[in-house]
Amino acid sequence: MRVLIAYQGNNKTNKQVAETMKKVFEEHGIDVTMQAVEPAVEMRLYDYLKEFRKKKGIPLKEAILDVSKYDLIVIGTPVLKFCPTPIMETYVRKLKGTKGKQFVLYCTPVGFAGTTIKRMASILTTKGAKINATLTISSIFELNEKKLALVKEFAMRLLS
Ligand SMILES: Cc1cc2nc3c(=O)[nH]c(=O)nc-3n(C[C@H](O)[C@H](O)[C@H](O)COP(=O)(O)O)c2cc1C
Repeated sequence: MRVLIAYQGNNKTNKQVAETMKKVFEEHGIDVTMQAVEPAVEMRLYDYLKEFRKKKGIPLKEAILDVSKYDLIVIGTPVLKFCPTPIMETYVRKLKGTKGKQFVLYCTPVGFAGTTIKRMASILTTKGAKINATLTISSIFELNEKKLALVKEFAMRLLS
């Protein structure tokens, strides 16, 4: 089984969840590819929102976009204005080879997640993807052991 985990590379908690899931999968002998999704140009959060509104996308650094060779694709996003971040929404919109593929979505809000998961799920299902499971894990700071334990349990459930 081949798994792709794509997350927002410049966001600590988003990365922490990705790395925790990777560890659980690898302990079970699964081949995991990590993809840190990053903007081509670093901007302030407000500027990402402005750019996204204007151009319907953020220029990203090169990343895996064709997911056809993976059996499971995990996508994580932080939350901005109750939605996926412009960086991760751009990434999800650009994905190819999604038809019939199993996706797992997670978000790492500081406060409320709002429509984050719903929005990502709707973009993906429109592209023929199947949403296997979702996780919302909120924290103001880096994730503590208790929160990370929830992520581990979630990853274990995906394997069963
Ligand atoms: C304009 C704006 C809107 C935001 N909206 C939300 C939100 O709706 N929900 C939420 O949980 N966090 C929200 N945040 C917090 C950001 O997601 C968080 O500060 C950002 O992801 C940076 O995370 P980091 O400090 O872990 O890098 C918002 C921040 C800004 C500046």
